[in-house]
Order: sequence, then structure tokens, then C-alpha cells
Amino acid sequence: MKGLSVHVYEDSEALAAAVAAEVARVMLGDGKTRVNVGLATGSTPIPVYRHLVQLLRGKDLSHVSSFNLDEYEGLEASHPESYRHYMQEHLFAHVAVPPGNIFFPEAGRDYDALIAERGGLDLQLLGIGTNGHIGFNEPGSARDSRTRRVELSAATRAANARFFGGSAEATPSHAVTMGVATIAGARRTLLLATGAGKAEIMAALLQRAGREYDPALPATALLQHAGAEFHLDRAAAARLDK
Ligand code: PGA
Repeated sequence: MKGLSVHVYEDSEALAAAVAAEVARVMLGDGKTRVNVGLATGSTPIPVYRHLVQLLRGKDLSHVSSFNLDEYEGLEASHPESYRHYMQEHLFAHVAVPPGNIFFPEAGRDYDALIAERGGLDLQLLGIGTNGHIGFNEPGSARDSRTRRVELSAATRAANARFFGGSAEATPSHAVTMGVATIAGARRTLLLATGAGKAEIMAALLQRAGREYDPALPATALLQHAGAEFHLDRAAAARLDK
């Protein structure tokens, strides 16, 4: 893990409080300069958003734009499992990011150009899949991939089936995701991993410190990123080399 910024917290609650404090600090900025944050969905960031709402409620966020990492294809924003719905529920309904500054990747939209035009991402929040995906960049994704439509792997559909009545078939088969290069283009990346279920993939990832990108494990793109941070609770860190 030499050279990597790895932070281990007692539990997911301590991680959430610390990460939310940092994200809030970045979002508030000086209150004037434009700030672009890349946000993630999934179960891991939910406690982060809970803390973030406490920290940002009532604050002026008119200088903030947000760019979500990914979205399923074929779900309306009102669908309870769409990521637009998730973000509304966990963050945007409670804090004052202007609705016109909230972006999600969509087929047919040049998301990378939009991000670049707006000045690039200051910070990108990320979870990690047990298969090493970041966003919906599944194993096999190219290092230079940009925002695009992707097919979800069987492993990801199975992992997400719990949100769609337990059926992998009912889980969307496609999504639009920021690419590996889009994510790695953020000035800072904060990858969050909590719980014993992430211990194996985090050990596999961090033991590759110093090595080059491996498409079999897309999160390895972060290992060469000077602005990458890895935030783990003790359970997710249980298999790291001491
Ligand atoms: P999770 O998903 O936070 O629900 O574990 C992370 C991911 O698949 O990127």
C-alpha cells in the first residue's frame, strides 16, 4: 500500500462522519468559486449523505454542480430504484443544490464534454463492487473508457437483484456510466468500502499498489492517481497486509 492514501475507521458510522465532513468542506468552498462534485449511489454512501444533509441543510450551494456516476437504463426518475430517485431521497430534497446544476449520465448526452466545459470534477465519490467495478465499469473496461452505455455483468445484476424483488431478470440489463478515464479525471477520488463483504476485493485492490491498470479490476485505475483516497471501515480493511 506504499504511497497510497488509505484511511481506516472503527466502523461505517465513523467513516461516514469523516467523509461527509470533507465532502461538505469541498462543497461549501469559499461560497463563490464553482465546485463540481461527482456523486455515487449504492448502499455504502447512504450514511455519508445522512451526515452531509445535516452539514449542508440551509446552506447556499448555488455555486455547486453535481454529476452522478451512473444510472440504469430504462427507469423513470420516479422509479424508486432509479439513481435519480435515490439522490433525491438521500440528498437533493434536503439541500440547496440548484436543480439545473444536477446532472446524470444519459445515452446521447456527451457527459465528458459537459464535465470538461464546467471545469472538471473537483471530487468524485465512489463505492466498489465485489467484482472490482467502479461505477458500472465492469471487469474488462478499458482504462481510456469514457461515459457510455454498458451491459451489466451477471454478478452485478445478481448483487442488485435485492432491489428489484429478488429477481436478476427484473434488474435492468444496461446502464450509462462514467468511464474509467472520466472517473480518473477527477482531481480527487474518494473510494469508500464498508463491511466484511468488501474485505476481499479491497485486499486484492490495495495489494496491487504500484502496478499498472488491470482491466480485470477496474478500480486499479485509482492506484496511479495522485488524488486517490481509500476510506475503509475495519471490517472492509480486515484482510489488508499489515
Ligand atoms: P454498494 O455498491 O455500495 O451497494 O456495495 C457499490 C458498488 O457496486 O459500486
